[in-house]
Amino acid sequence: MLPNWAIDTLSILTQLFIFALGAAALVVAIFFIIDISQTRDAIRRNYPVVGRFRGLFTTLGEFFRQYFFAMDREELPFNRAEREWVYRSSKGEGGTIAFGSTKALTPVGTAIFVNSPYPGLEGDTAHTECLKIGPFARQPYDAPSFLNISGMSYGALSRPAVRALSRGAAKAGIWLNTGEGGLSDAHLEGGCDIVFQIGTAKYGVRNAEGGLSDEKLKAVASLEQVKMFELKLSQGAKPGKGGILPAEKVTEEIADIRGIPAGIASHSPNRHPETGNNQELLDFVGHIREVSGKPVGIKFVVGAYGWLDTLCEEIKTRGIESAPDFFTIDSGDGGTGAAPMALMDNVGLTIRESLPMVAGILSHHGLTERIRIIASGKLLIPSSAAWALAAGADFIQCGRGFMFSLGCIQAMKCHMNTCPTGVTTHKKSLQRGLVPQDKAEKVALYANTLREHVEIIAHSCGVSEPRQLKPMHVRLVQANGRSKSMDDLNFIPPKELRGRPDFPAQG
Ligand SMILES: Cc1cc2nc3c(=O)[nH]c(=O)nc-3n(C[C@H](O)[C@H](O)[C@H](O)COP(=O)(O)O)c2cc1C
Repeated sequence: MLPNWAIDTLSILTQLFIFALGAAALVVAIFFIIDISQTRDAIRRNYPVVGRFRGLFTTLGEFFRQYFFAMDREELPFNRAEREWVYRSSKGEGGTIAFGSTKALTPVGTAIFVNSPYPGLEGDTAHTECLKIGPFARQPYDAPSFLNISGMSYGALSRPAVRALSRGAAKAGIWLNTGEGGLSDAHLEGGCDIVFQIGTAKYGVRNAEGGLSDEKLKAVASLEQVKMFELKLSQGAKPGKGGILPAEKVTEEIADIRGIPAGIASHSPNRHPETGNNQELLDFVGHIREVSGKPVGIKFVVGAYGWLDTLCEEIKTRGIESAPDFFTIDSGDGGTGAAPMALMDNVGLTIRESLPMVAGILSHHGLTERIRIIASGKLLIPSSAAWALAAGADFIQCGRGFMFSLGCIQAMKCHMNTCPTGVTTHKKSLQRGLVPQDKAEKVALYANTLREHVEIIAHSCGVSEPRQLKPMHVRLVQANGRSKSMDDLNFIPPKELRGRPDFPAQG
């Protein structure tokens, strides 16, 4: 016989169970009636209650796919193999893997480096030297590193993220590009070199009418840490569209730095009102260089036919000192804090196509030495960075690679202020996970490992340092399955295509 207290407990549990079953049946019945009578969702109307699981699984799938289902080389924008390479490098675990490559080497366009039978010995190898940018500016910049941090605005990025990047950049001896959100104490705190980006809204150097304030520009330029100015014409993820910062990310502090009202979404104009054609563009570049005394370049994603040719012609007519000191060429598949998918997906050439083309056009016009090329767009692992240097880049800028080094897990929530790793959110509770002192080490370790492994590729190709890599050191897989030297591929479109009358150059 069971004691009385056990019988009482069993009876209560039975009643609770029956109550829970009844409540569950009631909830299902309510959902059934709601689903069958609503008209907005066809699946729920046709499959009441069960149809709700589709939404649940779609949401959960986004989180679990990368852990359980996606293969190592499958995901976009970056696959697991690429992300893990950055994570390991950021922890100082080196870029070494085992057993064999998981990378397919047959897809068209795959780059294969041409190894030398006689690679350099330890003593034959070298690090890259400083490279001068802006010889005609009053204060040219001798840039120490071929690898640097791409523009990501404070606003898109959180304060601890910018602080970590600043400290990490200083440790690694690389520059930090501010992106279009202006300059803050967080950018300066590590003591790294700074490239100040002037976006179309001129955040940080903006006058009351939204134009360029020469006084503010002079004040920024007077800072020793600020080495160059980058005038953003376009960005790979959203060519033809200005920056977007959602209202929830325009905090008091960010509004103050940008010179805009807090709590209201901030949209930059689609282009600089001052630069409607090539003449105005060169005038504006010259003006910024004159006022600041520092090198000035332009950032863009390549699209329209003929534009670069006519720009180069105009530069030669005016004299080479009038040229932008650098071109930052961004890839059509570049990243962003927020952009319309309509532009992100299919507008603007990828860096694979545009970089060799621009290098060829500059060479054709004899401007290779005058205008430095900075390339960006998924150049976060050694093979892609080395490819870019071989294809004609003097420097590379990397954005999302450095976000991974800060702990980004590719949650793709940069536009929602809910980034789970604190990299792109202004919520203090989520920023807790990102400790700038700790992440700065990771930023520096990643930069150093990436540089070191680009050097390893260069040495394997028999040259002493990465900038010695040339197109002939890379072969690209063709549709017939065989590879062809990049040197033998003509990336520059024929003259008649470059200036097609039905697609006139802008300018
Ligand atoms: C969160 C985020 C913010 C960005 N903000 C800017 C910006 O303010 N200005 C800009 O020119 N590009 C911006 N970019 C684009 C990067 O500078 C870079 O051009 C692009 O992401 C391609 O490089 P990646 O593949 O190394 O990231 C941003 C990118 C990301 C991911």
